[in-house]
Amino acid sequence: MAIFFFSRKREIVFPIGRYLQVDVHSHILPGVDDGAKDTAAAIRLLRGMHQLGFHTVIGTPHVMVDIHRNNRATITAAYGRLEKALAGTSAPMPRIYYAAEHMLDEGFFGLLEAQETIPYHTSPYMLVETPYLFRPLNLEHLSFQLGTTGYKPILAHPERYHYLFGQPEAYEKLKELGFAFQLNALSLTGYYGKQEKTAALWLLEHGFVDYLATDIHHERHLKHLVNFRIPQNTIALLENTTFRNTELAAAYHPPKPAIPA
Ligand SMILES: [Fe+2]
Repeated sequence: MAIFFFSRKREIVFPIGRYLQVDVHSHILPGVDDGAKDTAAAIRLLRGMHQLGFHTVIGTPHVMVDIHRNNRATITAAYGRLEKALAGTSAPMPRIYYAAEHMLDEGFFGLLEAQETIPYHTSPYMLVETPYLFRPLNLEHLSFQLGTTGYKPILAHPERYHYLFGQPEAYEKLKELGFAFQLNALSLTGYYGKQEKTAALWLLEHGFVDYLATDIHHERHLKHLVNFRIPQNTIALLENTTFRNTELAAAYHPPKPAIPA
């Protein structure tokens, strides 16, 4: 009789879209950053995401003081262009919403003071990022300021910051400062590199991850999401983690009408 040994490290394709259903970090809004360059590209990505099983995709364009100088006007305009283009398609598509991915740069304070930041609609949550190579010096002050305004920061892809590699206490410190963590799914496949994968697994194993998202920018990301290969032990880690993606999508649903007295 043949005996088969199945390694827990054997990689299999995991249906990441059907598993998550809601994507809380994506660059599908057309022509506003380094994501989809026009509505046709956005629609191709969204069709692929629907086929993967996502029913809701929240577009989160970069808001930076230098490279991607977006604001509520540019983001709502891109959202409007995409909605209009989607109305002319017959293929099933995910629901789309928008928020933003705010760089914690020198422009961020001003946006916060002017109430120009773009959280996940009616929720207090806001997606933020830092440069990959260095930690902003004023991170403590920024998180304090965010707290005083009532916003709760979600740090995008903590596993991708070089200044955090191999520093568990630094991740703990960020958690203490009030940052929730959003992991990029492709980090688990090694798409961004070995150190990113190691950090992603460490964060998952330690229960530090609150949200899992695609951070999709282009067709290459889509191709890797279709062929999302991870080992059985990583699948077990995902299945033992409760991600809060659907909570953010709920912030976009219209409030229930009050019951008349
Ligand atoms: Fe992003």
